[in-house]
Amino acid sequence: MTTVQNGPGSAKQELLRARLEGMIAGLVPGEPLPAERDLARDLGVARMTLRRAVDGLVEEKRLIRRRGSGTFVAGAKVSQRLAATSFSADMRARGLRPGSHTVESRRFPAGMMLAALLDVPPQTDVLFVRRLRLADDVPMALEDLHVPATVAPGLTGEDLESASFYDLLARRFDDPVVAGTQTVEPALAGADEAALLGVPEGSPVFLFERTSRVRSGGVAEFVRSTYRGDRYRIVVDIFPPDGPAS
Ligand code: GLP
Repeated sequence: MTTVQNGPGSAKQELLRARLEGMIAGLVPGEPLPAERDLARDLGVARMTLRRAVDGLVEEKRLIRRRGSGTFVAGAKVSQRLAATSFSADMRARGLRPGSHTVESRRFPAGMMLAALLDVPPQTDVLFVRRLRLADDVPMALEDLHVPATVAPGLTGEDLESASFYDLLARRFDDPVVAGTQTVEPALAGADEAALLGVPEGSPVFLFERTSRVRSGGVAEFVRSTYRGDRYRIVVDIFPPDGPAS
């Protein structure tokens, strides 16, 4: 057994960190680290020393500590480009299997606020669907989707179970999404969202709001999406203020 000694910023501490990093690299996301007592013994360090090194990796989001259950390897983040693509297409592009589970659905007249967002008269019938979005069966996002009946007549929450909304628009309604506007804000997961996403309440999330237009010109959706902050990183292409250089 190699003995690693402590000392702030010391070579020994760096060695301890390197050994922990090596261990993380050999585990898959979601896998637990051995119990602190066993790991400290195997590495030949005091538990406090080990805890400090693990704290650093938790701060860097390489590890996740769950009170009462242990320390786990964090999942790699999905790099999300801000583009008018669908969740399903984004996940497939990363080699992940997209999934959708309809948690709740109902219909109601748009009313003033939604009517303005959806660019329809206030009495227009709107389908509301709350969907849990999964990648390889892991919850990634929660989406509150509002679709005016004018764009997708007859669409139901059941139609969206395990299905892509954008694919349905393109195939069933022959009216693909062509453009949209999206905002992004940081937020903290509320109790309901946290339970559905499988994260502790108060975890950081990205709040996206998107309105998208279809080829025929109408607004197809107003969506409020809550994406897990521990699984997402936003990528934005930037250009000079007068547009991309040709
Ligand atoms: C993304 C967008 C949503 C959109 C969804 C469609 O998640 N943020 O606004 O409704 O994609 O995804 P899919 O076609 O997989 O249902």
